Amino acid sequence: MQKHINRVVPPNSAISVQDLTKHFILMHRGGSLKRELLGAVKKMRGGTSREEFTALNDVSFEVPHGQTVAVIGRNGSGKSTLLGIIARVYRPTHGVAILQGRTDEPARIAPLLALDAGFHPDLTGLENIEFYGSVLGMSSAYIKSRAKEIIEFAELEEKIDTQMRGWNDGAKLRLGFSIAVHTEPDILLVDEVLAVGDESFQNKCYRLIAEMQKQGKTILFVSHDLAVVERVASRIIWLNKGVIQMDGPTHEVMDAYRKASEVPAE
Ligand SMILES: Nc1ncnc2c1ncn2[C@@H]1O[C@H](COP(=O)(O)OP(=O)(O)OP(=O)(O)O)[C@@H](O)[C@H]1O
Ligand SMILES: [Mg+2]
Repeated sequence: MQKHINRVVPPNSAISVQDLTKHFILMHRGGSLKRELLGAVKKMRGGTSREEFTALNDVSFEVPHGQTVAVIGRNGSGKSTLLGIIARVYRPTHGVAILQGRTDEPARIAPLLALDAGFHPDLTGLENIEFYGSVLGMSSAYIKSRAKEIIEFAELEEKIDTQMRGWNDGAKLRLGFSIAVHTEPDILLVDEVLAVGDESFQNKCYRLIAEMQKQGKTILFVSHDLAVVERVASRIIWLNKGVIQMDGPTHEVMDAYRKASEVPAE
């Protein structure tokens, strides 16, 4: 558990992100292909150099219970890093991401951050339901009681007792999404992955997301599909080079983002 000494979280917050900074260490190899390709005059021999890269810089926001927020921004702007910290995959360098349930119980979070995350390739789909469930903190009895529903929603009856190594991306998404949403999370975190689903499965996911919104669940998702963002989110957080460029109602942020993304005429 993280310590939240002197941190105040508003009572209606599901996700409280406070002063979040993440540095990654990048190791550059000397005499690199990059230098050759870029035609640098001076070549370094051997050796490595170390660079600290700031992926997120002092990011703060609150997501109240029941809100659906989209995180948008160019490639490399820090979106996945942010979701990874909220899901406890990465530790922040500074700051905290605090999750809060509606009751005194801890918040149940369902992260869907990468197609392979939470799965073991040598296990079958069915075995992985239990494995993934235990990663999410669910009892074996509980997850078994939901297995039939999970498999039916994913439409994976044929594949479910085969090893997941070799499954196509769409099948991994189907299982991951289905487990995530059938474990009654308070907070759903989705990073982009829905894009690999076919149209029929995507529509099914969006119907379920609408259902979760009605039930008052909190959803934070990353997408480059602006039409989906407009349809699903009521608020957008726009990240730019690791800082919040804008945070507000969907239409306002979308207008500004579209203007900023326009390629100037030659
Ligand atoms: N484990 C890591 N080690 C080093 N650098 C990393 C690591 N993870 C991310 N980064 C760097 O941090 C920056 C932000 O990456 P991140 O994956 O959060 O971006 P993103 O907004 O999700 O991009 P995309 O739209 O391409 O998914 C990038 O420059 C990336 O190279
Ligand atoms: Mg990403």
